[in-house]
Amino acid sequence: MHYEFDAVVVGAGGAGLSAALELARQVGQTHRIAVLSKLYPVRSHTGAAQGGIGAALGNVEEDHWEWHAFDTVKGSDYLADQDAVEIMCREAIECVYDLEHYGLPFSRLEDGRIAQRRFGGHTRNYGEGPVHRSCYAADRTGHMILQTMYQQCLKHDVKFFDEFHVLDLIIHQGRCAGVVAYEIATGRLHTFHAKAVLFATGGFGRMYKVTSNALALTGDGVAIAFRRGIPLEDMEFFQFHPTGIYRLGILITEGARGEGGILRNNDGERFMERYAPTIKDLAPRDMVSRAIYWEIRNGRGINGKDYVHLDLTHLGREIIETRLPDITDFVRTYLGIDPVKEPIPVTPTAHYAMGGIPTDVDGRVVTDASNTPLPGFYAAGECACVSVHGANRLGTNSLLDILVFGRRAARHMAQYIQQVDMPAMPDDPEQWSRQTIARLMEGDGGERHGQIRAELQSLMMDNVSVFRTEETLKTALEGLAGLKERYGRVTVQDKGRRFNTDLLEAIELGNLLELAEVTTFAARQRTESRGGHYREDYPNRDDQNWLKHSLVSRGEDGGLVWDSKPVVITRFQPQERKY
Ligand code: FUM
Repeated sequence: MHYEFDAVVVGAGGAGLSAALELARQVGQTHRIAVLSKLYPVRSHTGAAQGGIGAALGNVEEDHWEWHAFDTVKGSDYLADQDAVEIMCREAIECVYDLEHYGLPFSRLEDGRIAQRRFGGHTRNYGEGPVHRSCYAADRTGHMILQTMYQQCLKHDVKFFDEFHVLDLIIHQGRCAGVVAYEIATGRLHTFHAKAVLFATGGFGRMYKVTSNALALTGDGVAIAFRRGIPLEDMEFFQFHPTGIYRLGILITEGARGEGGILRNNDGERFMERYAPTIKDLAPRDMVSRAIYWEIRNGRGINGKDYVHLDLTHLGREIIETRLPDITDFVRTYLGIDPVKEPIPVTPTAHYAMGGIPTDVDGRVVTDASNTPLPGFYAAGECACVSVHGANRLGTNSLLDILVFGRRAARHMAQYIQQVDMPAMPDDPEQWSRQTIARLMEGDGGERHGQIRAELQSLMMDNVSVFRTEETLKTALEGLAGLKERYGRVTVQDKGRRFNTDLLEAIELGNLLELAEVTTFAARQRTESRGGHYREDYPNRDDQNWLKHSLVSRGEDGGLVWDSKPVVITRFQPQERKY
């Protein structure tokens, strides 16, 4: 089927809903807007962001957006673009009040104002000590954002295509002209012809074995953009959240430490005092994750094993059950442990891609180191790299990023679609999608995608996680080449058309393999340590040579090509990062 819309939003998490709502408010009366999502919207992964959204409201103590901006830049290990960070931290305050007015059920202070809690890396007065900056709804903040924004979109008559899996981006005559989507319920392909497309398709944590990411987080949008010639920015920076449930990776919010939770080693020691004497357990995630592994390597894991304890027992039942009800349930359900009485076994879990599709501060996708935009193509949220997180994102800044930049992209799109005609279309926009499906359905190569996916996840976990070296990265690249070659022989067993998840998982695997290769390649190029990218063979930050963003694209010979672009520095000169 062929559809025509003025604007198509792909992805219905916080960034997609925020963009769709803003489009509807701005031009919904006169222009056609559609949201496509491979999930039912409120099942999007934004729901996994538990502990809050950062904004310098100052409801509990003095705070300023400039302090927030400083923390974000320092947290990023000075790789974030400071013009974008300033916009995000300034607009954060209005975004949170907008959410309140839309009806988001924030937790409250006694006097009725929005409650705020401490979070990693957020400080008062440029680093003096932790500040209450995270605005939260218990530990269900992401869920509440999804519910609230989805309701608002329905109220504004946004048209949703649920369970439409986008397979391809249409670029023709130098413009973005729409997308091709696979309808999961019927197995039919559809072309969505549009003046503008926004990708808000989320991250790709499923390339790792232990991850907080939902099954759906396979980097579809990022891989599609890359395949269509968009270079990817800063892909070497992948965040490991310090507190995933041991072995399972399910997130235990940093809000637990914001409420006073403490990490302890086998000696019962609060070991973060040694690594970050000022803010201790509330140091940024890259530092805490490394500290946990160093404790384990030095034999101080619990009972000599590869985990540490997150201790909440001193907080008391009231705080644990009212402010952290979801994680309390998770721990009781999955571990059979009561966090009111016993510490929680935790290890770092793959959580968030700092890199992705490069954009400017209005969400326009840029195609090169000179920031040349591709007309009609936008991206926001985790799939995008604007870059406000640099080498390491602070907790609470992901929910902020999706709201601020989803909305800004929509505002630019609203102007753009009023100024341009419908773009021309290629003769057969569905060709690549049709051929890919046919290859996977009809081949007889005998390889199974599940097996390759499991091997990919172990390979990445063992070689491209918190610690990397030339040797591990080389091993990973060689292993990936083998997996990609085998992927060419994957055949799906379900030959049906309706709800063929076998086929979709095979397609998703192709995306994960592509992004794993780019991540590893970029990590091998960067011979320094910065934020979430820690090279044991190059343990220091090297501003002289590496204060720059990476850009990776696919060359004409099929190999990967590395390029770079400068970091935007406005008010905060790079300093040594101490907490
Ligand atoms: O720890 C958390 O609640 C996660 C939040 C985030 O990644 O921003």
